[in-house]
Amino acid sequence: MRGVIIFGSSRSHGNTRKVVDLLLDQLKFDLIDLKEKNIAPFDYDFKNSEDDFIPTISEVVEKYDLILFATPVYWYSMSGILKNFFDRISDCLKTEKEIGRKLRGMSLAAISCGYDQQTVAGFHEPFEYSANYLGMKYKGFLHTWIKDDAEVEVEVKTAIHTFGKSLIENQ
Ligand SMILES: Cc1cc2nc3c(=O)[nH]c(=O)nc-3n(C[C@H](O)[C@H](O)[C@H](O)COP(=O)(O)O)c2cc1C
Repeated sequence: MRGVIIFGSSRSHGNTRKVVDLLLDQLKFDLIDLKEKNIAPFDYDFKNSEDDFIPTISEVVEKYDLILFATPVYWYSMSGILKNFFDRISDCLKTEKEIGRKLRGMSLAAISCGYDQQTVAGFHEPFEYSANYLGMKYKGFLHTWIKDDAEVEVEVKTAIHTFGKSLIENQ
């Protein structure tokens, strides 16, 4: 299985990245850092079609079987950077239908990193519902936390490892 982590934090080397790096060590997935991309919000007139979204999603559907979305918790939700990317998946249902068809059958999972040990109820639902809507296989969600920009706690490391293992074993 070839997997990619689509990482959407407002800082490339912050807390979510610590969690992502543990998964990269374990899974040997590739990484796409959305902070390095120029991806505009969804536009009904598709005037942003020349930005980085189409090349990025095209590469993803050509090269990978599994997308693992990684996001910090910002205001009880996924980050704005990642939400923009999600909204732009609508392009694949309108002007880029061939890409949309290739998403079908792929797998999707998600991981979050917050300050609080828990997320609000339903945090994972946009990921699960979007996977279902797109005909993708939903492989689950893990919430992690880091206090005061510290190192990743052992309990969190163990949970990440178990989650990573489940992604490999439960294809
Ligand atoms: C704009 C903003 C909003 C936040 N909202 C929440 C929140 O709702 N719940 C929470 O647990 N932590 C919240 N936090 C804390 C971050 O989720 C936490 O510090 C996370 O580990 C940051 O990851 P990052 O370094 O990749 O941005 C917020 C942080 C920021 C900057």
